[in-house]
Order: sequence, then C-alpha cells, then structure tokens
Amino acid sequence: MAGNSPVKVQIDHVVKKFNGRNGEMTALNGVDLNIHENEFVCVVGPSGCGKSTLLNIIGGLDKPTDGHVYVDGKEVDGPSPERGIVFQQYALFPWLTVEKNVMFGLLQQGVNRSEALETAHKYLKMVDLEEFAKAYPKELSGGMKQRVAIARAYAVNPKVLLMDEPFGALDAQTRTQLQTELLETWEKEQKTCFFITHDVEEAIILAQRVVIMHARPGRVKEIVDIDIPYPRDQATKMSPRFLELKNHIWKQVYEEYLAVRK
Ligand SMILES: Nc1ncnc2c1ncn2[C@@H]1O[C@H](COP(=O)(O)OP(=O)(O)OP(=O)(O)O)[C@@H](O)[C@H]1O
Ligand SMILES: [Mg+2]
Repeated sequence: MAGNSPVKVQIDHVVKKFNGRNGEMTALNGVDLNIHENEFVCVVGPSGCGKSTLLNIIGGLDKPTDGHVYVDGKEVDGPSPERGIVFQQYALFPWLTVEKNVMFGLLQQGVNRSEALETAHKYLKMVDLEEFAKAYPKELSGGMKQRVAIARAYAVNPKVLLMDEPFGALDAQTRTQLQTELLETWEKEQKTCFFITHDVEEAIILAQRVVIMHARPGRVKEIVDIDIPYPRDQATKMSPRFLELKNHIWKQVYEEYLAVRK
C-alpha cells in the first residue's frame, strides 16, 4: 500500500507568484502534499488553478516563490532524468525524427546507440508508432506527436513520471489503450506517478489518490482515496463505487469552476 511506503516527493507549502499583465498574481497559495514511493496520484481542478505550475516546479523547470519541493529528501533545484515529464503541449524536437526524439534522453545518459535504438523502438511500438520512426514531428497529427512524447518519457525509465494532461489530445480509443498501458508500466516498473487530468473518470481509473485543487489561487481542496482494487478496466466504470466517487469529485471540481466564473 503506497500510504505506508516512504515519501518520494514532498511538496512543502509551495507558493508561486507571477508578474502578469495585471501586476503580481498568485498561482499557488501554499500547496502541501506528500507523494509516496510508487504511488499514483492524479490532480484535478479547474483551468488556471495552477496544476501545470505545480508540475513544472516538481520537475525543476520553475522555482517556487516560497516553500520547497524535495525528492528523496533532497531539495529540487533543476530538472533531472529521474523525473520524466510529458508536457501538456507535446514538446518534440522538430529537427529530429520520431526515433531520434525518443532516443535523445537515452543518448544523453550515455546509453550506446544500438541499445538506445532498441529501447526507442520498444516504446514506439507500445504507442503504435513504430512505422513512423523515420518521420519528422511535422508529418504527424497532434495525437501522434503526443504519443511520441509519451514514448520519449517512458524510454528513459524515470522513477518519477510527471504527466500534464498527456492523453488530452487523443481519441477515446487511444486514450483508453494508453491508460491501460500506463497502469501496466506503473505496476511492472514501480514508478511514482503525478498525473494531471481534466477527466474525472480518467483520474479514478488511474489513481490511488485524487487531489482536488481549489480554483485560483491553487491550494489542495480535498484528497480522495480511490478504494477500488487494480486491475481496473472499462467495466470498473460501471461499478457503484466508481460512480459514487465520480459524482463526488465532479461536484467538487464544478464548485471550483463556478467560484472563478462568477
Ligand atoms: N509564466 C507565467 N507568467 C505569468 N502567469 C502565469 C505563467 N504561468 C502560469 N501563469 C498563470 O498562473 C495560473 C495557473 O496557470 P497553470 O498553467 O498552472 O494552470 P492549469 O491549472 O495548468 O490550467 P489548465 O487546466 O488550463 O492547463 C494562471 O492564471 C496563469 O495565467
Ligand atoms: Mg495546465
């Protein structure tokens, strides 16, 4: 049970302020959260509540204005291959082929070319894009680019996977397929997953805990334990407990959506 395993990521009263067009704005206003080793946590909350900001801070791409993030007890002070990121907008290198995009992180880590190529193909196969290995990102659809970005993040086998609405741009069938594969990867390879989504059903299918954020400025509103055993599949979505959890989380998120809309 993840709750009993050591804390992998400690988010300690993180505050983030930006200088926006209307002066200083607070994006995160004291976020506290512990994510345990091998735990799968999903984050939901209305648009603009600071989810991506929080993920960027955990990833070391941005610094908190106040507060701290620790991974394995060590304060985050920049990006690390231990923390793989899939961005909300696919971020591929346009000048590299699909295959080379996936190999990039591996080569940087000193993996030799033939091994990197083999690993890249393993993950391209997983996202069903092996036949596009030699294509360039501009030749792919949005969903295909996102699948390459997912393959690239998995390929380096990071201990912590930070995923920002990774399946948002995908069709329902691909999304379901990749959810299943993510859960299999998570169970097999023992990873700590921090996964942002707008889709409450997706959050419940994937996560052990769902973190609901308050609307601007972002704080943790509620943490919901998803007490549905794995493996979970499409049939899980019909179970009374799933529907009960979905109803509750959806209501909490909608309340926040209304709070900033009026
Ligand atoms: N670099 C920046 N400069 C100024 N303001 C920013 C910057 N990045 C984010 N913000 C602001 O911080 C707030 C939180 O943004 P963030 O992207 O984290 O939200 P989000 O929860 O990920 O939203 P979405 O669900 O739409 O992706 C927003 O009000 C946004 O305008
Ligand atoms: Mg976002």
